[in-house]
Amino acid sequence: MIVTLFLLITPLIGLTTSQIPNPIRYQVSFSGGSHYAVDKIRWRLSSKICTSTETVPANCSSQEIYVPSEGRTYTFQLTTANPCIVNRGAFLKYIDIWPGIVDSFGGENKTYDKIIFDKDCDGPCLTWFISYNETVYSFMNYQRRLYVRQADSRPIKTTLAWYDLKTGKLVGESESKITYWDLDEIPDSQFKFPIDTKKCYFA
Ligand SMILES: *[C@@H]1O[C@H](CO)[C@@H](O)[C@H](O)[C@H]1NC(C)=O
Ligand SMILES: *[C@@H]1O[C@H](CO)[C@@H](O)[C@H](O)[C@H]1NC(C)=O
Ligand SMILES: *[C@@H]1O[C@H](CO)[C@@H](O)[C@H](O)[C@H]1NC(C)=O
Repeated sequence: MIVTLFLLITPLIGLTTSQIPNPIRYQVSFSGGSHYAVDKIRWRLSSKICTSTETVPANCSSQEIYVPSEGRTYTFQLTTANPCIVNRGAFLKYIDIWPGIVDSFGGENKTYDKIIFDKDCDGPCLTWFISYNETVYSFMNYQRRLYVRQADSRPIKTTLAWYDLKTGKLVGESESKITYWDLDEIPDSQFKFPIDTKKCYFA
């Protein structure tokens, strides 16, 4: 009985851990200073562009908050003359950023490409790989890779390298580190309006 259960459970575990994490509640920050707080259980979503990428983002110049009960998206541009504009509808693609990243690497059901030991991973990372050619504006082959730490399924970074299609030579490389990743309950403070909404323009 126990053996049967074990045999049943093992493939399921293998399946989920070999896939790209696609949680319905997450906080993620990128090295560029963007921070996302998405809770699709309680439907609260916020994205911020900040100069600090610490756990608690500071010096945020812009923020978008989707308020489902109002069906409105609040856009705060704190350094501009119109610091708050409220639009009808949801601009979820910009706020709920993670599913788009998952899709761009082949979707949540795609199995990883290979395991790579990388210093940013403190050990092995499962990686997903995508390659595409761009022949309209340039003549390049692009190669993107997503790194997810094997030990705890924490996304670590995405990398991009581009190669000249004629010569095969590496032209450039960039990476975006995931500086914060948390799947716990998100504090209310993440969804607080940064200024009084009396200052908002309702479009
Ligand atoms: C916020 O910006 C101010 C002024 O540019 C700077 O002195 C301060 O260190 C910044 N705070 C953080 C947490 O980055
Ligand atoms: C991934 O697989 C699960 C289980 O088979 C399925 O329910 C889900 O719809 C699939 N997701 C996508 C994006 O295909
Ligand atoms: C990109 O172009 C090269 C050279 O024509 C080809 O070998 C390769 O299969 C192409 N890759 C993709 C992902 O289309």
